[in-house]
Amino acid sequence: MRQSAREKAVQDAVTQRRELVNAAIDDDLPLKRPERLYEASRYLLEAGGKRLRPAVLLLTAEALADVEPMSVDYREFPDLGGNDVDVMAAAVSIEVIQSFTLIHDDIMDDDDLRRGVPAVHREYDTETAILAGDTLYSKAFEIMLKTEAPADRGLGAMRTLAETCTHICEGQALDVDFETRNDVLPEEYMEMVEMKTAVLYAAAASIPAIVLGADDDTVEALYNYGLKVGQAFQIHDDVLDLTVPSEQLGKQRGSDLVEEKKTVITLHAREHGVDVDGLLDADDPEAVTDAEIEAAVGELEDVGSIEYARETAHDLVDEGKDHLKVLPENDARTTLEHVADYLIERGH
Ligand code: IPE
Ligand code: IPE
Ligand code: MG
Ligand code: MG
Ligand code: MG
Repeated sequence: MRQSAREKAVQDAVTQRRELVNAAIDDDLPLKRPERLYEASRYLLEAGGKRLRPAVLLLTAEALADVEPMSVDYREFPDLGGNDVDVMAAAVSIEVIQSFTLIHDDIMDDDDLRRGVPAVHREYDTETAILAGDTLYSKAFEIMLKTEAPADRGLGAMRTLAETCTHICEGQALDVDFETRNDVLPEEYMEMVEMKTAVLYAAAASIPAIVLGADDDTVEALYNYGLKVGQAFQIHDDVLDLTVPSEQLGKQRGSDLVEEKKTVITLHAREHGVDVDGLLDADDPEAVTDAEIEAAVGELEDVGSIEYARETAHDLVDEGKDHLKVLPENDARTTLEHVADYLIERGH
């Protein structure tokens, strides 16, 4: 399939599932008292978001169960033994975790814009944002309990979710720690990205296998699919941070340079002689203009750092797709391959 046709097919597949996920979020995360807390908790979920992780989860379930895409009620989804489980609850749970991490991430990264609207700590205040994140974090576990999978599988899904959240915190801690280090190694960056970002894709791809009753090899292969494409996703996010205007991105362009984040791009540039710390006006990095970012990107392009990041992401996607061989050959599996490509081709 040509790239544009493939991209459109992926976007349609994600959009169809996003609409169902959004309706399910309304059901699983109702507004209640204290209203300000629940409004703040739902605010980002309502602002938008691509819903890529729940889409991966639902597609993986469809591929495993070998059903026609979108042909089955996700709330009563046939597991591999012929019983019903609610895979939509698992999809909502993963997206609720995503929202929790974004709220806290924007506090840590001092970012004002998210999903095209003010970040939660700007729209409300930091106290409310911390609590909204915490509420979503625990709600995700409550929602994951609703899959009605047999107890051992339900427990397995909870274990994966818990370990995922622990890893996200570990990765975020490394991400912040690296801001003040100038000797970060490429393998340290890859580990950080695996922890802060890729594990949530790994959870999205492997939890349906757990709740549907797939064997351990299948669970592991899908986990590894998520890890590889999730690392690629974060590398592409690092590229987008530099190359896409804030209006298109829905978040502040150049934030990584301002915060002196270590990315595959800046690590490569440093190795090739670029004074990465001098890329922006050190006196007032907060007041950085688009022209300054363009100039910085120019320097990074000149030494091939952006191209290097794109190639690295591409190789990871190829590695990730290889793990999908564990699935039956069907349309959902093909879409999961195309989703992997889309993760590093998307424009926001
Ligand atoms: C942003 O994820 C957080 C990262 C791990 C880079 P997305 O780009 O998937 O954000 P939403 O959910 O679509 O807003
Ligand atoms: C985010 O990484 C990882 C998370 C766990 C949220 P970033 O800090 O690069 O994400 P964005 O660019 O703010 O979305
Ligand atoms: Mg951030
Ligand atoms: Mg961050
Ligand atoms: Mg980013």
